[in-house]
Amino acid sequence: MCGIVGYIGPQEAVPILLTGLHRMEYRGYDSAGLCSVSNGQLIISKRAGRVADLEKVLEPNEHSVKLGIGHTRWATHGLPNDVNAHPHTDASGRIALVHNGIIENYLAIRKQLENAGLQCKSDTDSEVLAVFIGMLYDKLGDLELAVQTALQEVDGTFGLVVVSTVDPDLLIAARRGSPLILGIGKDEYIVASDASAIISHTRQVIYLAENEMAVVRRSGYTTKTIANVATHSEIEEIAFELSQIERGGFAHFMLKEIHEQPSTFHDGYRGRLNIEDGKVRLGGLSKMQDRIREAKRIIITACGTSWHAALVGEYLIEQLARIPVEVEYASEFRYRDPIVNPDDVVIAISQSGETADTLAAVREARRKGATVLGMVNVVGSTIARETDAGVYLHAGPEIGVASTKAFTSQLCVLTQFAMYVGQMHGMSPELSRTIAQHIDALPGQIQEILDRADEMRTIAKQYARSTNALYLGRGVHFPVALEGALKLKEISYVHAEGYPAAEMKHGPIALIDENMPVVFIATKEELYDKVLSGIEEVRARRGKVIAIATEGDEHIKTVADHVFTIPSTLSILSPVLASIPLQLLAYYVAVERGCNVDMPRNLAKSVTVE
Ligand code: F6R
Repeated sequence: MCGIVGYIGPQEAVPILLTGLHRMEYRGYDSAGLCSVSNGQLIISKRAGRVADLEKVLEPNEHSVKLGIGHTRWATHGLPNDVNAHPHTDASGRIALVHNGIIENYLAIRKQLENAGLQCKSDTDSEVLAVFIGMLYDKLGDLELAVQTALQEVDGTFGLVVVSTVDPDLLIAARRGSPLILGIGKDEYIVASDASAIISHTRQVIYLAENEMAVVRRSGYTTKTIANVATHSEIEEIAFELSQIERGGFAHFMLKEIHEQPSTFHDGYRGRLNIEDGKVRLGGLSKMQDRIREAKRIIITACGTSWHAALVGEYLIEQLARIPVEVEYASEFRYRDPIVNPDDVVIAISQSGETADTLAAVREARRKGATVLGMVNVVGSTIARETDAGVYLHAGPEIGVASTKAFTSQLCVLTQFAMYVGQMHGMSPELSRTIAQHIDALPGQIQEILDRADEMRTIAKQYARSTNALYLGRGVHFPVALEGALKLKEISYVHAEGYPAAEMKHGPIALIDENMPVVFIATKEELYDKVLSGIEEVRARRGKVIAIATEGDEHIKTVADHVFTIPSTLSILSPVLASIPLQLLAYYVAVERGCNVDMPRNLAKSVTVE
């Protein structure tokens, strides 16, 4: 969600903070701000808009300081304007804070502050926390203690960094529910909510745990809980390269990430799937192997695109392992007192590993005694750490807000998980080998599709002015239709809906007229003929049909207005290939409409608030 960065060390802080903010802009971006501590003063600049807008208003003297904090905001409480932008200060202007998360009891705390004659200038919950820390500092005379005391009274979530003029050799970072990483350089420290802001300084990091804080001085750091119990956090190494978070010649991160899929998909099964015998080895799950074998039911929980992957996973696991699977929106699961038994296996799927709803679902499932597994992309993220075991996606950093390569990597991992469980329950070696060989063909087949991206660009140009679109698919392609529709609405702001193709006649057919593009996933599989009937029904009402079809299908060309073909594969693997043209369609429509593809309005990459 919001991006946080803080620096203490011998170098100029402001350029380091700005680079960090630029790298994290994809996380949240309606306003940005910086605070540096210089000559007993807090110098604060903040602006609604992009980091580039902030740079224009920076004072020149801000370039000679060695301590500071920065923030990119994604508004939760209060409009995105200059006043609500972070950093926020206490009432005396000596203590500044940047915050990611939500202080749920901020109204009660604000009342307490008002009773003490302290006012807030902004509408934010974060400023309330800053003023509260200031009030406690005045009472206690110790900044660390004031932060600890405040955080113990706070309900809600926070990743925060505090600096002050009262102790200009001190930076305090703390987290609960929002990620925070302490980068350990040579005589310098950089704290950030995202490893991308740290990697150009150091690879050595500590992922702060829940309710943990770091007290950082130029001479060193300590970690402890917010209740002041010392902790001994391990130093870990950032696993990706700087080049992976740069655009590398592509117009947008999203396009780069779409084009990375031949290799990211391959990375998802390399070293896990033996192509010769089809055996799957998921090392991250080995300690939970017996629990998985004995599972009576599997529940998959996730949000958004990851939830769509979960729906494909349901199909795969039930097909290959014959174990009942339920898929739940994490946001619903967490609140409906779900029936979860100790012999259930719950899988949380998340690109970021920080989605608040999914994390809460993980905690709920663990509380109820289930074995909880993670399928997560971001190494060291909270969900990866809080699950009993897991499988990383290995898709590399995904910067574009609309998830693309993480989705296909989720399908890659889910397919192998389905095989892994299937193999525990007697899945035949022939079937394992056949699937493995088809999986191994997918990277090349994805590449074949990407090589024809221009065909989709031509189709997209014709529909760029449409205001609605329907996406229809059957069986395992229903979630693909949902995902195609989500991609389009997220980045092009065109209203789009996904349905199981047969549901069209139960309602959505009323929408069909000559202005309605209908995207059919019409690959030559079990229900192909039934999908063709749906296409005829749309044609009969003058709707425009865009078909994603199997290579060599001549008939479909006679019934669809546009056909984009994909190579033939097993039907259970077909969602991987069918989703690529839909990503391209959404991308080119958005570009044609002049939308900001990588930073769509109102969206943030990792949704760390409820
Ligand atoms: C869509 C998208 C979102 C996320 C959702 C869950 O393109 O990116 O729908 O899929 O917010 O995020 P993760 O997977 O990080 O838990």
